Amino acid sequence: MFISKFHQLSAHAAKRIVEAPNFTWRIPYLPTVHDHYVETLRRESFCTEAAKLDSEEGSEAKQKINVTFVDKDGEETNIKVPVGMSMLEAAHENDIELEGACEGSLACSTCHVIVMDVDQYNKLSDPTDEENDMLDLAFGLTEMSRLGCQIIAKPELDGIRLAIPAATRNFAVDGYKPKPH
Ligand code: FES
Repeated sequence: MFISKFHQLSAHAAKRIVEAPNFTWRIPYLPTVHDHYVETLRRESFCTEAAKLDSEEGSEAKQKINVTFVDKDGEETNIKVPVGMSMLEAAHENDIELEGACEGSLACSTCHVIVMDVDQYNKLSDPTDEENDMLDLAFGLTEMSRLGCQIIAKPELDGIRLAIPAATRNFAVDGYKPKPH
C-alpha cells in the first residue's frame, strides 16, 4: 500500500517536471563515427588547400618575364625579371644604367623610363598622384612615360620594352625646388 502510493507520487512528480515549460532533455554528447569522418575530411581538405597554395606561391616566385631596356644610344639589353620585382631593381641587378636616386621612394624622377609599346603601356596599373607629380619633373616626358621603380613585373608584361631617356633631372642635385600644390 505504502509502496504503491510512493510510485504514484513519483510518477506524478516526473510528469510535472517533463511538462514544465522550461524543461529540456539533456543527453550527454558522445562523439560519433560521423563526427570522426567529418573531422578527417576537414583535415584532408585543409592539407590539400595548403599544398596547393604552397605550389602556387612557389611557381609565382620562380616565374620570370622578359624585359628589354633600350639605352640612349639604341643599344638593347634583354634581361629576365622575376614576377614581383620592380624595373628599377631589375635594372640595378643587371648593371643597366637607370639612376633611381631615391631608391624607389617616389621622391625623384631619375628612374624615368618610356614604355615603347602602347599595348604594354595599357597593361600597367594607373600611376598614382605621387608618381604623376614626380613624372612632371622628368626630363623628356612623353605620353608613355613611367617611373621604373613603379613598374612591377607581372606575367602580362612579358616582352615589355623600356627606353631609358638620354638624360634625367634630379632636383636634389640640380637645385630644382618643387612648387607647393
Ligand atoms: Fe626615385 Fe623611382 S627611384 S622615384
